[in-house]
Amino acid sequence: MSFQAPKGTFDWLPPRSERILAVREALAAPLRGAGYGYIETPVFEDTQLFARGVGESTDIVSKEMYTFPDKAGRSLTLRPEGTASVVRAVLQHNLHAGQLPVKMWYSGSQFRYERAQKGRYRHFWQVGAEALGSEDPALDAELILLGARGFASLGLENVTLLLNSLGDKACRPAYRAALQEFLRGLDLDADTRARVEINPLRVLDDKRPEVQAQLTGAPLVVDHLCAACEAYHEEVRSLLAASGVAFDDDPRLVRGLDYYTRTTFEFVHGGLGSQSAVGGGGRYDGLSEMLDGPPLPGVGWALGVDRTFLAMEAEGLLDDHARSRVQVYGVPLGEEARRRMFLIVNELRAAGVSADMAFGGKGLKGAMKGADRSGAGFALILGERDLAAEAVQVKNLTDAEQTEVPLAKVVDVLKGKVQ
Ligand code: HAM
Repeated sequence: MSFQAPKGTFDWLPPRSERILAVREALAAPLRGAGYGYIETPVFEDTQLFARGVGESTDIVSKEMYTFPDKAGRSLTLRPEGTASVVRAVLQHNLHAGQLPVKMWYSGSQFRYERAQKGRYRHFWQVGAEALGSEDPALDAELILLGARGFASLGLENVTLLLNSLGDKACRPAYRAALQEFLRGLDLDADTRARVEINPLRVLDDKRPEVQAQLTGAPLVVDHLCAACEAYHEEVRSLLAASGVAFDDDPRLVRGLDYYTRTTFEFVHGGLGSQSAVGGGGRYDGLSEMLDGPPLPGVGWALGVDRTFLAMEAEGLLDDHARSRVQVYGVPLGEEARRRMFLIVNELRAAGVSADMAFGGKGLKGAMKGADRSGAGFALILGERDLAAEAVQVKNLTDAEQTEVPLAKVVDVLKGKVQ
């Protein structure tokens, strides 16, 4: 059997692949306009970076990492997310010694060994943003706004913003203890009971109906916020409201990564079934210290590009029209014509006109089929008689009208026609 892409991965092929590039661009554009600089970090990092940063008790670290030893015996891991890497890079290059906040955005592959299904892949793409060094509710609100603007710019209308606060190191411990006490009284299986002791907040996120049914009445973090966290959260909410961003308070929203403090949020789409989160993020004021850095508060998000594409599909925003690959298509008939056409096509490209031609010595019929499929507006037909006359037939593929143009003028004529 021939090779297949590994389970949980897939290929992006034309013409859809062009659309996914446009989606990445659209999600990143608002960040560029808000002073975020582009950062690229390695696709693999020291395993400990994620173990400590994302948290040993998370599903990501305990079950989903692609970890391997390199030839010198170092343990490396394909990045399952981007935040830990960005914080690592900021600390390594001392970027926090300059102006704060350090604002960065990134776009790239992430890897998680998850149960593959529609919208949940083992290799997926995120566009992300992080702002480090300021504890300011306006920064949380700015990021949320920029994410919402990215989705809106793609025409998406069915995206909802869920908002919560997870408290900080002053109030979270007391909440955690109260939650644990409540959860210990429930009828749970051994695995879940173990989770109550390690990561009780995650139990709130358990989707099984028999667990959910027991969770009504569970203590909520919003009722346990300290005064500082409450004031901070109110300010984020009021800035969002003032900017006209709709959000739903979701006191049960917990995230799958351990580094969050205070503001947490998720963008969910109504047309995606169970894998509904098209993006998520929040504040992570302790992460730098977990990575042996100085106190360096941070906030950020990552948007799932693959899921955003599925959301667009669900809203009917992806038209099926194969977009035209080129503006002009060359149809050479015979050896000498092929040589001349090769040069004309290169001249057209140099003049800013996108062009392709028939390869492989196709006859008129096959070559014209190629012209149609390319979506070009014009075909250049060059036969022996044309060569002798130093001319070429320019066929308008929309109305089938054909004119003869001197070879010496064809680039200029086409430049005029396609503009
Ligand atoms: P996350 O919620 O794990 O957060 O991922 C963000 C988004 O990536 C999700 O909302 C989803 O759209 C997409 N995503 C996650 N896993 C998959 C998957 N298996 N297949 C397809 N798409 C997926 C983070 O990664 C944090 N680093 C976000 C952040 C940045 N927080 C602060 N700064």
